[in-house]
Amino acid sequence: MGALAGATMRHIDPGALVENDRVHRSVYTDPEVFELEMERIWGKAWIFVGHESQVREPGQYFATSIARQPIILVRDNNGALQVLFNRCAHKGAMLVGDQCGKVKELRCCYHGWRFDLSGTLISIPLEKGYDCTGFGRGDPQANLQRAPRWASYRGFVFASLSEEGPDLISWLGGAASSIDNMVDRAPEGDLEVAGGVLRFEHDSNWKFFVENLNDLMHPMVAHQSSSLTARSLAKKMLPPDRPPPAAIEILSPFTESYGFFDEMGLHAFDYGHGYSGGKTSIHARYSDIPEYNRRMEAAYGKDRTAEILAVNRHNTVIYPSMTIKGAIQTMRVVKPVAVNKTIIESWTFRLKGAPDELLRRSILYCNLINSSANLVGPDDQEAYWRQQCGLESVASEWVSMHRDAGQDEEIAPGHFYAKGSSDLAFRNQYRAWRGYMVDEGSPQ
Ligand SMILES: [Fe+2]
Repeated sequence: MGALAGATMRHIDPGALVENDRVHRSVYTDPEVFELEMERIWGKAWIFVGHESQVREPGQYFATSIARQPIILVRDNNGALQVLFNRCAHKGAMLVGDQCGKVKELRCCYHGWRFDLSGTLISIPLEKGYDCTGFGRGDPQANLQRAPRWASYRGFVFASLSEEGPDLISWLGGAASSIDNMVDRAPEGDLEVAGGVLRFEHDSNWKFFVENLNDLMHPMVAHQSSSLTARSLAKKMLPPDRPPPAAIEILSPFTESYGFFDEMGLHAFDYGHGYSGGKTSIHARYSDIPEYNRRMEAAYGKDRTAEILAVNRHNTVIYPSMTIKGAIQTMRVVKPVAVNKTIIESWTFRLKGAPDELLRRSILYCNLINSSANLVGPDDQEAYWRQQCGLESVASEWVSMHRDAGQDEEIAPGHFYAKGSSDLAFRNQYRAWRGYMVDEGSPQ
């Protein structure tokens, strides 16, 4: 904690805020808990930065943030990835003011200090003024500062603001298999970001979103207004002898039965990661795209194709910053802004070698479900906002995660399973939250 922040903040005991089956309301409402999360969770964990397809060529950059700090992902002239703080070494201005682009070097718009693509200071106007000052070229402090660690897993680039901690692959653990499956769905075995990004500002704490994704007791209730309405209109207005339009295929399963969501099941791993679905999910009954199947079989053979496409996961949470849906090639990235403000970015991927229909379906999915101006996502946003307001009350200090507590099944070391209606995902995320927040030295 910074000296000033430490002097002004009261003492918080995060360990007292989480129990096995309930969590204290202040984890969602207290600005000081939020500041501590930025330092101990977002400042330590591997945080998703960008996808390699966004920076394929030297000089291409993508500007993002980690724990609210501006960051640039850039490909340098040697073809290596660099993760740099977006802060001029001179007087602190961000080097890059837009989100993406291509440059030969990084030049500050304010006083013209120039840095190469790996962050080394190249030149200063009227450089002589720095003679004998102890600051200037050759001084590491006069270069752009690098994130302490970064690594890429199958094109997904993560960085950590902590020097220490597990390597990326050990940290991803069983959740890496969801990234594998999304990439394996490409006939050419590679993904690229395509189709733009949707940014959706939520007036609520970041954890409501990451908890919601594997809360399988909410869709059939929260999404009645969108999904059930779409179902009943389709039944009334569409000819029964023709296949339903893609929008109806996408919207309808949100109001499947409790039994359906129970069957999907929940999987949980260390560090808060987990996924729902597997054998089935809300994506399992989308219409076939025969040309896609043909290209997959040409690339992988019949058996391997069947194996890849049989993996039907719903949401995978790579806690705390990234969530993916492999079956529909979408990703949502979490950007906490304040204790009661979060930006959720929705991205879509092109499966390289696949017909365009797949990307079109992913974009349609994001427009229908994840956009701020559409159907399903705003149902969730309303629920998070009501939680944010409701938890300001002193009616109770605790928020429940009791459902099926004590019944989580360890099916492999560190791999827990429960039926879909369980609160397993909540309990697992707070096990990680506690690990990061309580032990200042080492996460989990
Ligand atoms: Fe939802």
